[in-house]
Amino acid sequence: MLTVLVSGKAAPGVTTSAWALALTWPGPVLVADCDPAGGDLAAGYLPGRVSAERGLLSWAAAARRGVPAMAAATMFSGHAVRVPENPNVWLMAGFATATQGASFTPDAWERLALALERSAASVGRDALVDAGRLVGERACWPVLRAADQVLLTVRPSVRSVHAAQGAAMLLRTELGDLAKVSALVVGDGPYSAAEVADALSVPLCGTLPQDSAAARVLSDGASLGPKALNRSALLKAAATVTTRLTTGMSAATSIARPDSAWADTAPSEQAQPGIAR
Ligand SMILES: Nc1ncnc2c1ncn2[C@@H]1O[C@H](COP(=O)(O)OP(=O)(O)OP(=O)(O)O)[C@@H](O)[C@H]1O
Ligand SMILES: [Mg+2]
Repeated sequence: MLTVLVSGKAAPGVTTSAWALALTWPGPVLVADCDPAGGDLAAGYLPGRVSAERGLLSWAAAARRGVPAMAAATMFSGHAVRVPENPNVWLMAGFATATQGASFTPDAWERLALALERSAASVGRDALVDAGRLVGERACWPVLRAADQVLLTVRPSVRSVHAAQGAAMLLRTELGDLAKVSALVVGDGPYSAAEVADALSVPLCGTLPQDSAAARVLSDGASLGPKALNRSALLKAAATVTTRLTTGMSAATSIARPDSAWADTAPSEQAQPGIAR
């Protein structure tokens, strides 16, 4: 299974959420940093623990054109690092800079997409991708096209929903429709997750709570200790989302939303205009 997280602008928490989902994935998983603007996954949770020599660029140099996709997927292991605290989780670090990201050729993205698609079949690891912000042309479209599911990450605020609506438009244009796109709503805001998904015209795949202490561990290398991290509200909610993603349950049918009554009230009653579809 290939799952890709993206956002519009406004940094809703794609990188943090990608780690939260990876650390609670119910089986072996490769988390790949494909943010063309430069990768933050390694610096976020494993600062100083990932060699700059290993990652997307070293993999692309090794898995050259002509290497079959299954073999290229097997080669991920030599260019990824295993998370010491979570041996089921492997990280493929991304680009050091946006310039490096821009130098990744369309052919390299295509080869990467094919290999990520085959990761589960070739080495028994699902793939989870941080694709960063969808703004303009700089995006890993081959990987998004190959994805089984695309999680549009968004905060429940007007600013973030507007950014996500722009990203949804690009997804619709490039993918043809939004059939495999769902909303991952992160943190608190004036809107319910259901309203946000509705404004984006996609189903809701789940919610992650505002949990700054745990988020800082994943995004800024703060220390909390593995036990406290595992017990955090963020990872507990992430475990619910990953179970749903890997078993194909929809959020609408599998969770009782405490805020569903909120969604039933007219937007005008919330005094929050501007989240219209
Ligand atoms: N669930 C959360 N609770 C609290 N804070 C969060 C949560 N998720 C992310 N954050 C915080 O939000 C900030 C941005 O997070 P992150 O870097 O993951 O966003 P991003 O969408 O990947 O940004 P960018 O587009 O710049 O790559 C960080 O300070 C992070 O700690
Ligand atoms: Mg990021």
